[in-house]
Amino acid sequence: MIKSGIKVFAPASVANVACGYDMLGFALEHPGDEIIGKLNDKSNGLTITKITGDNKKLSYDLQNNTAGFAALKLLEYLGEEKRGIEIEIHKKMPFGSGMGSSAASAAAGVMIINELLGKPLSKRELLPFAVLGEQIADGAYHADNVAPSLFGGMILIRDNASLDVHRLFVPKGLYAVVIYPHIKILTKDARAILSENITLKQHIAQSGNLGGLILGLFNSDIELIKRSLQDVIIEPQRAQLIPHFYEIKALALELGALGCSISGAGPSIFALCSNSLIAENISEGVKNLLMKHKIENNIYVSSINQEGAILL
Ligand code: HSE
Repeated sequence: MIKSGIKVFAPASVANVACGYDMLGFALEHPGDEIIGKLNDKSNGLTITKITGDNKKLSYDLQNNTAGFAALKLLEYLGEEKRGIEIEIHKKMPFGSGMGSSAASAAAGVMIINELLGKPLSKRELLPFAVLGEQIADGAYHADNVAPSLFGGMILIRDNASLDVHRLFVPKGLYAVVIYPHIKILTKDARAILSENITLKQHIAQSGNLGGLILGLFNSDIELIKRSLQDVIIEPQRAQLIPHFYEIKALALELGALGCSISGAGPSIFALCSNSLIAENISEGVKNLLMKHKIENNIYVSSINQEGAILL
């Protein structure tokens, strides 16, 4: 256990948000990952000294660890790769869940280095290194989990290659329910099944929804948000991977969700709600439904986290 170190937290996130595949994501208050770190007086570079909460599944090798790789890339950029640094990674959220677990680790990885070195960079400047870390997990360069985990809020990524990212206004009171059924879906696989082609009709519907969602958030127009939270492209292709997806979605909508779709690449499902009471009701209703189907699960109810990664 690292003594006299500092600790950072980076939250889980919901990517895609129905109509914004690879373009939209928001951060949750909880769960999230923690990293503890300290400088030492050796000059042997960065070492991961401990990992907990991972069922021994994560690598201590910096090249194969999302937090470690993101941290290493940042240290190289800063010319500090020889600096003696020890970090402990404490996974406090499920991974392979579609809640941005690898992104939270990558965001925490760059945060801890930046804090230990006296904040040489802004969060905006840390983003590319965190995205490189997350890329280890699924092979693709996209910031729809990493950016919200780092910055907090609802983030639009206009372009992933250049990381043209923008924070969207989020009306007060919005709550999310995130339902994690304990089944395994690898992001890589969930991306591989997607068709490369869409029809003009799908493009029109999805673009209309994305524009409507952004405008609805900006104007706190709950009805417009509700009409826009629909995914006509990705959800129909991935729903088959999640048992009882449409039954869960129908229940969430019946109980008052503004929208309900797959969180990131799944298997988690999110429902966005106009207040915490509706969110709590959905949580309870879906819990009962999953119990009936004998599917182990975790359900999280959270407002939109506006801070992102923080020093604790
Ligand atoms: N946008 C990504 C996807 C998020 O849906 O595949 C998960 O990494």
